[in-house]
Amino acid sequence: MFRDETKLDINYVPHKLPHRDRELRMLKEFFNFLLQFPEKMAQRVLIVGDVGTGKTVLSQRFGVDISQEISKHGTSFRYIHVNCREYRGSLFLIMQHAVQVFHPNFPRRGYSAEELLRIFMQILDDERICIILVLDEFDSLIEREGSEAIYKLTRLQEARQNKPQRLSLICILRSLSAIAKLDASTRSTLQSNIINLEKYSKQQLIDILRDRASIAFKPLAVPEDTTELIAELAFSENGNARFGIELLWRAGKYADAENLDIVTPDCARRAVSSIIPAVRKDDLVALGLHEKLLLLGIANLFKEGQKICVSLAENERAYTIMCEEFNVKPKSHTQLWEYLQDLSATGIVETEVLSSTSRGRSTMIYLPRIPAHELEKELRSILARTEVRRKP
Ligand SMILES: Nc1ncnc2c1ncn2[C@@H]1O[C@H](COP(=O)(O)OP(=O)(O)OP(=O)(O)O)[C@@H](O)[C@H]1O
Ligand SMILES: [Mg+2]
Repeated sequence: MFRDETKLDINYVPHKLPHRDRELRMLKEFFNFLLQFPEKMAQRVLIVGDVGTGKTVLSQRFGVDISQEISKHGTSFRYIHVNCREYRGSLFLIMQHAVQVFHPNFPRRGYSAEELLRIFMQILDDERICIILVLDEFDSLIEREGSEAIYKLTRLQEARQNKPQRLSLICILRSLSAIAKLDASTRSTLQSNIINLEKYSKQQLIDILRDRASIAFKPLAVPEDTTELIAELAFSENGNARFGIELLWRAGKYADAENLDIVTPDCARRAVSSIIPAVRKDDLVALGLHEKLLLLGIANLFKEGQKICVSLAENERAYTIMCEEFNVKPKSHTQLWEYLQDLSATGIVETEVLSSTSRGRSTMIYLPRIPAHELEKELRSILARTEVRRKP
């Protein structure tokens, strides 16, 4: 399946970031001064957005781009990306790392965080270099150090009046509520430039996944339906692009393991059930007889592995066949619609009402979290244990 699976690695920084052009341009705009009059000013920018909205990758793409751009101007510059959580939110450990970027053998002991800050600024002066220091997962620094350390960090430049401005900051965090804890003056030095990353829509996730699939997989290995299903799953997981990309990779692995020609939607279902603690068996046992039969019909429709969603009408037909098999009288359409709502409330299926069809509204049903054959097996074994009589 794969052409180059490293393109799905969490640390890979793609050349293009679909639906983040505007944010990338803004970031470049904020730091444009580095091209025109470096050392004359410094900047602070906050990047805020939920899990998997592309904060880290946006910053890293920007880092690579601006480093290239600045090198053309002959200015000495470095982009330093630090994940604060990796350093347990400790200013001391973070500054130690920053110093070691320039002096790898710098002693690990003997200096306080403040001294390291001072030493760091001295190094920048000695090297006549401007840097952007990125503090990713900034929340953990705030949690651990509170206002004072951050105050020191953000005011570093101001304490050096009439000296070249060398240190700019990008702070990355999931929500602004983390900085609400800081005192007012620290907050105000941080909050001036904020780039807000909105959650991705399903369509945006489709574009991102399609783009990534095209460089990571062999041509035509990932059909549109599979991309769409994975986008749907990532969207319901809070619009998390990371989740989508991981699913794409796992789905490819399942397809490879089974020697399939393409990555089918059912590979994606299997992938998701291996990540999410799937559908709990108790949930299935607790369903009423007709809900079970309705769901069994759904499992049957998805069993071939090619479909991404089915209509309620198709589902009704499949349900009727199941009723025949189990020798019970089918319920009415209205009743079924209610059962479907219950199933959707448990998260086993997802429904979407399309209003654009010529015959008015129609309900589409997705089975996102559990592979169809697994669901069928489970339901049949539960049904066999209950007193339902099969037709002789
Ligand atoms: N617009 C995009 N185009 C291409 N890939 C993207 C885009 N947005 C996010 N990604 C990919 O999605 C994954 C998650 O992105 P990233 O790690 O930047 O999220 P994050 O906002 O930093 O999340 P967290 O808050 O968990 O740190 C990465 O693999 C990244 O490459
Ligand atoms: Mg991140």
